[in-house]
Amino acid sequence: MRASPIRRRPRTRAKIRCVSANRPTGQQQTGTYDSAFLKACRREPVPHTPVWFMRQAGRSLPEYRKVREGIAMLDSCMMPELITEITLQPVRRHGVDAAIYFSDIVVPLKAIGIDLDIKPGVGPVVEKPIRTRADLEQLRPLEPGDVPYVAEAVRMLVGELGATPLIGFAGAPFTLASYLIEGGPSRNHEHTKAMMYGDPQLWADLLDRLAVITSAFLKVQIEAGASAVQLFDSWAGALAPADYRRSVLPASAKVFESVAGYGVPRIHFGVGTGELLGLMGEAGADVVGVDWRVPLDEAARRVGPGKALQGNLDPAVLFAPREAVEAKAGEVLDAAAGLEGHVFNLGHGVPPNTDPAALTRLVEYVHERSAR
Ligand code: CP3
Repeated sequence: MRASPIRRRPRTRAKIRCVSANRPTGQQQTGTYDSAFLKACRREPVPHTPVWFMRQAGRSLPEYRKVREGIAMLDSCMMPELITEITLQPVRRHGVDAAIYFSDIVVPLKAIGIDLDIKPGVGPVVEKPIRTRADLEQLRPLEPGDVPYVAEAVRMLVGELGATPLIGFAGAPFTLASYLIEGGPSRNHEHTKAMMYGDPQLWADLLDRLAVITSAFLKVQIEAGASAVQLFDSWAGALAPADYRRSVLPASAKVFESVAGYGVPRIHFGVGTGELLGLMGEAGADVVGVDWRVPLDEAARRVGPGKALQGNLDPAVLFAPREAVEAKAGEVLDAAAGLEGHVFNLGHGVPPNTDPAALTRLVEYVHERSAR
Protein backbone atom coordinates (compact mmCIF):
# COMPACT_ATOMS: atom_id res chain seq x y z
CA MET A 1 0.00 0.00 0.00
CA ARG A 2 1.19 3.48 -0.74
CA ALA A 3 0.72 6.27 1.73
CA SER A 4 -1.22 9.06 0.09
CA PRO A 5 -0.10 12.63 0.65
CA ILE A 6 -1.86 14.86 3.13
CA ARG A 7 -4.92 16.40 1.56
CA ARG A 8 -6.02 18.66 4.33
CA ARG A 9 -3.38 20.87 5.83
CA PRO A 10 -3.70 22.93 8.99
CA ARG A 11 -4.75 26.39 7.84
CA THR A 12 -2.07 28.21 9.78
CA ARG A 13 0.73 25.96 8.66
CA ALA A 14 4.13 27.64 8.43
CA LYS A 15 5.59 27.99 4.94
CA ILE A 16 8.57 25.79 4.15
CA ARG A 17 11.63 27.87 4.73
CA CYS A 18 15.33 27.54 4.29
CA VAL A 19 16.56 27.28 7.86
CA SER A 20 20.03 27.46 9.28
CA ALA A 21 22.17 24.37 9.65
CA ASN A 22 22.43 24.66 13.44
CA ARG A 23 18.78 23.72 13.90
CA PRO A 24 18.21 20.36 15.60
CA THR A 25 18.14 17.15 13.58
CA GLY A 26 14.63 16.65 12.27
CA GLN A 27 13.93 20.35 11.98
CA GLN A 28 16.41 21.27 9.27
CA GLN A 29 14.84 20.79 5.84
CA THR A 30 11.21 20.60 6.71
CA GLY A 31 10.46 24.03 8.19
CA THR A 32 8.93 22.51 11.32
CA TYR A 33 11.10 24.78 13.45
CA ASP A 34 8.65 27.65 12.96
CA SER A 35 5.52 25.58 13.63
CA ALA A 36 3.14 26.67 16.40
CA PHE A 37 3.72 23.33 18.16
CA LEU A 38 7.51 23.68 18.43
CA LYS A 39 7.23 27.37 19.29
CA ALA A 40 4.86 26.57 22.17
CA CYS A 41 7.25 23.82 23.37
CA ARG A 42 10.06 26.41 23.33
CA ARG A 43 7.79 28.91 25.19
CA GLU A 44 7.85 31.39 22.30
CA PRO A 45 4.83 33.43 21.14
CA VAL A 46 2.45 31.45 18.89
CA PRO A 47 -0.12 32.48 16.24
CA HIS A 48 -2.62 30.09 17.87
CA THR A 49 -2.50 27.43 20.57
CA PRO A 50 -1.25 24.25 18.89
CA VAL A 51 -3.28 21.10 19.44
CA TRP A 52 -2.75 17.38 18.99
CA PHE A 53 -4.26 14.38 20.74
CA MET A 54 -2.63 11.41 22.39
CA ARG A 55 -3.92 8.32 20.52
CA GLN A 56 -5.18 10.54 17.71
CA ALA A 57 -4.31 7.68 15.36
CA GLY A 58 -6.39 4.65 16.18
CA ARG A 59 -9.77 3.10 16.58
CA SER A 60 -11.77 6.36 16.67
CA LEU A 61 -11.06 6.66 12.93
CA PRO A 62 -12.96 4.46 10.42
CA GLU A 63 -10.04 4.82 7.99
CA TYR A 64 -7.77 3.35 10.70
CA ARG A 65 -10.07 0.39 11.34
CA LYS A 66 -10.14 -0.24 7.59
CA VAL A 67 -6.37 -0.34 7.00
CA ARG A 68 -5.78 -2.39 10.18
CA GLU A 69 -8.30 -5.09 9.17
CA GLY A 70 -6.69 -8.52 9.54
CA ILE A 71 -3.33 -7.10 10.68
CA ALA A 72 -2.25 -7.68 14.29
CA MET A 73 -1.28 -4.55 16.24
CA LEU A 74 2.41 -5.48 16.67
CA ASP A 75 2.71 -6.55 13.02
CA SER A 76 1.32 -3.16 11.95
CA CYS A 77 4.06 -1.45 14.00
CA MET A 78 6.69 -3.11 11.76
CA MET A 79 5.24 -2.03 8.39
CA PRO A 80 6.66 1.38 7.37
CA GLU A 81 4.04 2.21 4.71
CA LEU A 82 1.17 1.28 7.01
CA ILE A 83 2.75 3.22 9.91
CA THR A 84 3.04 6.23 7.62
CA GLU A 85 -0.55 6.00 6.44
CA ILE A 86 -1.95 5.57 9.99
CA THR A 87 0.17 8.41 11.38
CA LEU A 88 -1.04 10.76 8.62
CA GLN A 89 -4.74 9.92 8.97
CA PRO A 90 -5.53 12.22 11.94
CA VAL A 91 -3.40 15.03 10.46
CA ARG A 92 -5.45 14.92 7.25
CA ARG A 93 -8.78 14.59 8.97
CA HIS A 94 -8.46 16.92 11.95
CA GLY A 95 -5.78 19.41 10.91
CA VAL A 96 -3.89 18.86 14.18
CA ASP A 97 -0.62 20.77 14.67
CA ALA A 98 1.55 17.67 15.13
CA ALA A 99 1.61 14.02 14.14
CA ILE A 100 2.55 11.28 16.60
CA TYR A 101 4.48 8.33 15.27
CA PHE A 102 2.25 5.25 15.16
CA SER A 103 3.74 2.50 17.26
CA ASP A 104 3.42 1.21 20.81
CA ILE A 105 5.51 1.52 23.96
CA VAL A 106 6.28 -2.24 23.90
CA VAL A 107 7.70 -2.27 20.35
CA PRO A 108 11.37 -1.85 21.48
CA LEU A 109 10.90 -4.70 23.99
CA LYS A 110 9.52 -6.98 21.27
CA ALA A 111 12.44 -5.91 19.05
CA ILE A 112 15.04 -7.16 21.55
CA GLY A 113 13.30 -10.52 21.76
CA ILE A 114 10.89 -10.27 24.71
CA ASP A 115 8.04 -12.69 24.14
CA LEU A 116 5.01 -10.41 24.25
CA ASP A 117 1.85 -9.58 22.36
CA ILE A 118 -0.76 -6.81 22.35
CA LYS A 119 -4.15 -8.41 22.98
CA PRO A 120 -7.12 -6.46 21.57
CA GLY A 121 -9.10 -4.78 24.34
CA VAL A 122 -6.49 -5.80 26.94
CA GLY A 123 -3.10 -4.32 26.06
CA PRO A 124 0.44 -5.72 26.22
CA VAL A 125 0.79 -9.24 27.65
CA VAL A 126 4.24 -10.64 28.47
CA GLU A 127 4.74 -14.42 28.27
CA LYS A 128 7.50 -14.71 30.91
CA PRO A 129 7.27 -11.85 33.43
CA ILE A 130 10.52 -10.45 34.81
CA ARG A 131 10.75 -11.19 38.53
CA THR A 132 14.34 -12.29 39.28
CA ARG A 133 17.89 -11.21 38.54
CA ALA A 134 18.26 -14.07 36.05
CA ASP A 135 15.20 -12.70 34.19
CA LEU A 136 17.05 -9.41 33.63
CA GLU A 137 19.20 -11.14 31.04
CA GLN A 138 16.19 -11.00 28.69
CA LEU A 139 16.80 -7.25 28.44
CA ARG A 140 19.75 -6.54 26.18
CA PRO A 141 20.41 -3.04 24.76
CA LEU A 142 18.47 -2.02 21.63
CA GLU A 143 20.49 -1.49 18.44
CA PRO A 144 19.17 0.67 15.60
CA GLY A 145 19.34 -2.47 13.43
CA ASP A 146 16.68 -4.09 15.66
CA VAL A 147 14.09 -1.56 14.48
CA PRO A 148 14.92 -0.75 10.83
CA TYR A 149 11.22 -0.15 10.11
CA VAL A 150 11.17 2.74 12.61
CA ALA A 151 13.84 4.85 10.90
CA GLU A 152 12.33 4.02 7.52
CA ALA A 153 8.80 5.04 8.57
CA VAL A 154 10.02 8.23 10.25
CA ARG A 155 11.90 9.25 7.09
CA MET A 156 8.83 8.58 4.96
CA LEU A 157 6.66 10.55 7.36
CA VAL A 158 8.94 13.56 7.53
CA GLY A 159 8.81 13.71 3.75
CA GLU A 160 5.00 13.59 3.73
CA LEU A 161 4.42 15.92 6.67
CA GLY A 162 6.33 18.93 5.38
CA ALA A 163 6.13 21.66 8.04
CA THR A 164 3.95 19.62 10.41
CA PRO A 165 6.18 18.26 13.20
CA LEU A 166 6.40 14.55 13.96
CA ILE A 167 6.48 13.55 17.63
CA GLY A 168 8.45 10.42 18.42
CA PHE A 169 7.74 8.58 21.66
CA ALA A 170 8.68 5.82 24.04
CA GLY A 171 7.42 4.28 27.26
CA ALA A 172 9.14 5.44 30.43
CA PRO A 173 11.13 2.89 32.45
CA PHE A 174 8.52 2.63 35.24
CA THR A 175 5.54 2.02 32.95
CA LEU A 176 7.52 -0.52 30.87
CA ALA A 177 8.72 -2.22 34.08
CA SER A 178 5.13 -2.55 35.26
CA TYR A 179 4.13 -4.45 32.09
CA LEU A 180 7.25 -6.63 32.25
CA ILE A 181 6.93 -7.49 35.95
CA GLU A 182 3.15 -7.91 36.13
CA GLY A 183 3.02 -9.71 32.78
CA GLY A 184 0.22 -7.44 31.58
CA PRO A 185 -1.95 -4.47 32.53
CA SER A 186 -2.34 -4.06 36.28
CA ARG A 187 -4.55 -1.94 38.50
CA ASN A 188 -2.41 -1.86 41.64
CA HIS A 189 1.08 -2.79 40.34
CA GLU A 190 1.59 -5.22 43.27
CA HIS A 191 4.47 -7.27 41.85
CA THR A 192 6.10 -4.11 40.54
CA LYS A 193 6.04 -2.42 43.93
CA ALA A 194 7.07 -5.68 45.64
CA MET A 195 10.30 -5.58 43.61
CA MET A 196 10.76 -1.83 44.11
CA TYR A 197 10.50 -2.13 47.92
CA GLY A 198 11.84 -5.66 48.34
CA ASP A 199 14.91 -5.67 46.09
CA PRO A 200 15.93 -2.08 45.41
CA GLN A 201 19.14 -3.10 43.64
CA LEU A 202 17.39 -5.45 41.22
CA TRP A 203 14.76 -2.73 40.66
CA ALA A 204 17.39 -0.08 39.96
CA ASP A 205 19.21 -2.39 37.55
CA LEU A 206 15.97 -3.21 35.72
CA LEU A 207 15.02 0.46 35.37
CA ASP A 208 18.51 1.31 34.22
CA ARG A 209 18.37 -1.31 31.47
CA LEU A 210 14.98 0.02 30.40
CA ALA A 211 16.36 3.58 30.37
CA VAL A 212 19.12 2.46 27.98
CA ILE A 213 16.59 0.74 25.68
CA THR A 214 14.20 3.70 25.75
CA SER A 215 17.00 6.18 25.03
CA ALA A 216 18.12 4.15 22.03
CA PHE A 217 14.54 3.94 20.71
CA LEU A 218 14.09 7.72 20.99
CA LYS A 219 17.44 8.35 19.31
CA VAL A 220 16.44 6.23 16.30
CA GLN A 221 13.33 8.40 15.88
CA ILE A 222 15.13 11.72 16.38
CA GLU A 223 18.01 10.83 14.08
CA ALA A 224 15.54 9.81 11.36
CA GLY A 225 13.79 13.20 11.66
CA ALA A 226 11.31 13.38 14.57
CA SER A 227 11.08 17.00 15.79
CA ALA A 228 10.01 16.29 19.38
CA VAL A 229 9.68 13.30 21.68
CA GLN A 230 7.24 12.30 24.38
CA LEU A 231 8.03 9.93 27.23
CA PHE A 232 4.84 8.15 28.34
CA ASP A 233 4.93 7.27 32.04
CA SER A 234 1.26 6.42 32.00
CA TRP A 235 1.20 4.56 35.32
CA ALA A 236 3.52 6.84 37.36
CA GLY A 237 0.45 8.25 39.13
CA ALA A 238 0.37 5.02 41.16
CA LEU A 239 3.47 6.21 43.06
CA ALA A 240 3.89 8.40 46.15
CA PRO A 241 6.25 11.33 45.52
CA ALA A 242 9.03 10.01 47.79
CA ASP A 243 9.02 6.66 45.98
CA TYR A 244 8.91 8.36 42.59
CA ARG A 245 11.88 10.56 43.52
CA ARG A 246 14.00 7.72 44.90
CA SER A 247 13.10 4.79 42.68
CA VAL A 248 11.84 6.13 39.33
CA LEU A 249 13.01 9.67 38.64
CA PRO A 250 16.70 8.73 38.14
CA ALA A 251 15.88 6.36 35.26
CA SER A 252 13.54 8.83 33.53
CA ALA A 253 16.10 11.61 34.04
CA LYS A 254 18.71 9.40 32.36
CA VAL A 255 16.44 9.08 29.31
CA PHE A 256 15.88 12.84 29.04
CA GLU A 257 19.57 13.53 29.52
CA SER A 258 20.51 11.03 26.81
CA VAL A 259 18.60 13.00 24.15
CA ALA A 260 19.24 16.52 25.50
CA GLY A 261 21.98 17.16 22.95
CA TYR A 262 19.61 16.96 19.97
CA GLY A 263 17.80 20.14 20.95
CA VAL A 264 14.33 18.69 20.24
CA PRO A 265 11.62 19.36 22.83
CA ARG A 266 11.12 16.55 25.32
CA ILE A 267 7.60 16.02 26.72
CA HIS A 268 6.95 14.07 29.91
CA PHE A 269 3.46 12.65 30.44
CA GLY A 270 1.68 10.57 33.06
CA VAL A 271 -1.86 10.04 34.36
CA GLY A 272 -2.95 10.86 37.92
CA THR A 273 0.35 12.67 38.49
CA GLY A 274 -0.97 15.80 40.25
CA GLU A 275 1.32 15.18 43.22
CA LEU A 276 4.28 14.39 40.96
CA LEU A 277 4.20 17.33 38.54
CA GLY A 278 7.15 19.13 40.12
CA LEU A 279 9.26 15.97 40.14
CA MET A 280 8.31 15.12 36.55
CA GLY A 281 9.58 18.54 35.53
CA GLU A 282 12.76 17.96 37.55
CA ALA A 283 13.40 14.78 35.58
CA GLY A 284 14.48 17.08 32.76
CA ALA A 285 11.59 17.51 30.32
CA ASP A 286 10.95 20.76 28.45
CA VAL A 287 7.17 20.22 28.46
CA VAL A 288 5.13 18.54 31.19
CA GLY A 289 1.90 16.77 30.26
CA VAL A 290 -0.98 17.20 32.70
CA ASP A 291 -4.12 15.08 33.02
CA TRP A 292 -7.55 16.65 33.65
CA ARG A 293 -7.43 16.46 37.45
CA VAL A 294 -5.31 19.59 37.98
CA PRO A 295 -6.16 22.91 36.27
CA LEU A 296 -3.26 24.19 34.16
CA ASP A 297 -2.67 27.37 36.20
CA GLU A 298 -2.28 25.25 39.34
CA ALA A 299 -0.16 22.73 37.39
CA ALA A 300 2.15 25.59 36.33
CA ARG A 301 2.66 26.53 40.00
CA ARG A 302 3.54 22.92 40.82
CA VAL A 303 5.89 22.48 37.86
CA GLY A 304 7.62 25.84 38.36
CA PRO A 305 9.06 28.26 35.77
CA GLY A 306 10.94 27.32 32.63
CA LYS A 307 8.61 24.57 31.34
CA ALA A 308 5.73 24.55 28.89
CA LEU A 309 2.63 22.53 29.76
CA GLN A 310 0.57 20.15 27.63
CA GLY A 311 -3.07 19.28 28.26
CA ASN A 312 -5.61 18.85 29.65
CA LEU A 313 -9.22 18.33 28.55
CA ASP A 314 -10.90 15.32 30.13
CA PRO A 315 -11.30 12.82 27.23
CA ALA A 316 -14.78 11.90 28.53
CA VAL A 317 -15.93 15.46 27.75
CA LEU A 318 -15.81 14.48 24.05
CA PHE A 319 -19.02 12.51 24.57
CA ALA A 320 -20.94 15.61 25.71
CA PRO A 321 -22.76 17.95 23.28
CA ARG A 322 -20.67 20.37 21.26
CA GLU A 323 -21.51 23.38 23.47
CA ALA A 324 -20.29 21.53 26.56
CA VAL A 325 -17.08 20.43 24.82
CA GLU A 326 -16.38 24.01 23.82
CA ALA A 327 -17.18 25.36 27.29
CA LYS A 328 -14.74 22.88 28.87
CA ALA A 329 -12.08 23.50 26.20
CA GLY A 330 -12.53 27.24 26.83
CA GLU A 331 -11.85 26.64 30.53
CA VAL A 332 -8.61 24.85 29.63
CA LEU A 333 -7.53 27.77 27.42
CA ASP A 334 -8.44 30.29 30.13
CA ALA A 335 -6.45 28.38 32.77
CA ALA A 336 -3.51 28.33 30.31
CA ALA A 337 -3.67 32.06 29.55
CA GLY A 338 -0.75 32.99 31.83
CA LEU A 339 1.45 30.00 30.91
CA GLU A 340 4.88 30.38 29.32
CA GLY A 341 3.92 27.83 26.68
CA HIS A 342 0.83 25.70 26.16
CA VAL A 343 0.15 22.76 23.87
CA PHE A 344 -3.53 21.80 23.91
CA ASN A 345 -4.19 18.08 24.34
CA LEU A 346 -6.50 15.73 26.17
CA GLY A 347 -5.62 14.64 29.69
CA HIS A 348 -5.11 11.09 28.31
CA GLY A 349 -5.65 9.27 25.02
CA VAL A 350 -8.62 9.55 22.65
CA PRO A 351 -11.16 6.88 23.74
CA PRO A 352 -11.66 4.32 20.90
CA ASN A 353 -15.41 5.05 20.60
CA THR A 354 -15.02 8.83 20.24
CA ASP A 355 -16.91 10.48 17.37
CA PRO A 356 -14.06 11.75 15.17
CA ALA A 357 -16.16 14.79 14.17
CA ALA A 358 -16.00 15.95 17.81
CA LEU A 359 -12.20 15.99 17.55
CA THR A 360 -12.19 17.91 14.26
CA ARG A 361 -14.53 20.52 15.75
CA LEU A 362 -12.37 20.76 18.86
CA VAL A 363 -9.25 21.49 16.79
CA GLU A 364 -11.12 24.26 14.95
CA TYR A 365 -12.42 25.68 18.22
CA VAL A 366 -8.99 25.76 19.88
CA HIS A 367 -7.41 27.38 16.82
CA GLU A 368 -10.11 30.04 16.45
CA ARG A 369 -10.50 30.82 20.13
CA SER A 370 -6.72 31.21 20.65
CA ALA A 371 -5.80 32.98 17.38
CA ARG A 372 -4.14 36.31 17.80
O1 CP3 B 1 -1.87 8.08 18.17
C1 CP3 B 1 -1.01 7.82 19.05
O2 CP3 B 1 -1.05 8.33 20.18
C2 CP3 B 1 0.17 6.94 18.68
C3 CP3 B 1 0.01 5.57 18.93
C4 CP3 B 1 0.17 4.92 20.30
C5 CP3 B 1 -0.30 3.62 20.54
N1 CP3 B 1 0.11 3.23 21.78
C6 CP3 B 1 -1.04 2.81 19.57
C7 CP3 B 1 -1.92 1.75 20.09
C8 CP3 B 1 0.81 5.35 21.46
C9 CP3 B 1 1.46 6.69 21.75
C10 CP3 B 1 0.76 4.27 22.39
C11 CP3 B 1 1.39 4.31 23.71
C12 CP3 B 1 0.96 3.36 24.73
N2 CP3 B 1 0.72 2.02 24.61
C13 CP3 B 1 0.83 3.69 26.09
C14 CP3 B 1 1.08 5.05 26.67
C15 CP3 B 1 -0.08 5.95 26.38
C16 CP3 B 1 -1.28 5.72 27.27
O3 CP3 B 1 -2.34 5.46 26.70
O4 CP3 B 1 -1.14 5.85 28.47
C17 CP3 B 1 0.46 2.53 26.79
C18 CP3 B 1 0.19 2.41 28.26
C19 CP3 B 1 0.42 1.48 25.84
C20 CP3 B 1 0.09 0.04 26.08
C21 CP3 B 1 -1.10 -0.33 25.30
N3 CP3 B 1 -1.07 -0.65 23.96
C22 CP3 B 1 -2.46 -0.33 25.71
C23 CP3 B 1 -2.95 -0.03 27.10
C24 CP3 B 1 -3.25 -0.66 24.59
C25 CP3 B 1 -4.77 -0.71 24.46
C26 CP3 B 1 -5.34 -2.06 24.41
C27 CP3 B 1 -6.73 -2.00 23.80
O5 CP3 B 1 -6.96 -2.72 22.82
O6 CP3 B 1 -7.56 -1.22 24.28
C28 CP3 B 1 -2.35 -0.86 23.51
C29 CP3 B 1 -2.72 -1.20 22.12
C30 CP3 B 1 -2.69 -0.03 21.20
N4 CP3 B 1 -1.63 0.81 21.07
C31 CP3 B 1 -3.71 0.35 20.30
C32 CP3 B 1 -3.23 1.46 19.60
C33 CP3 B 1 -3.91 2.21 18.48
C34 CP3 B 1 -5.05 -0.35 20.15
C35 CP3 B 1 -4.86 -1.60 19.38
C36 CP3 B 1 -5.61 -1.63 18.07
O7 CP3 B 1 -5.95 -0.60 17.47
O8 CP3 B 1 -5.84 -2.76 17.61
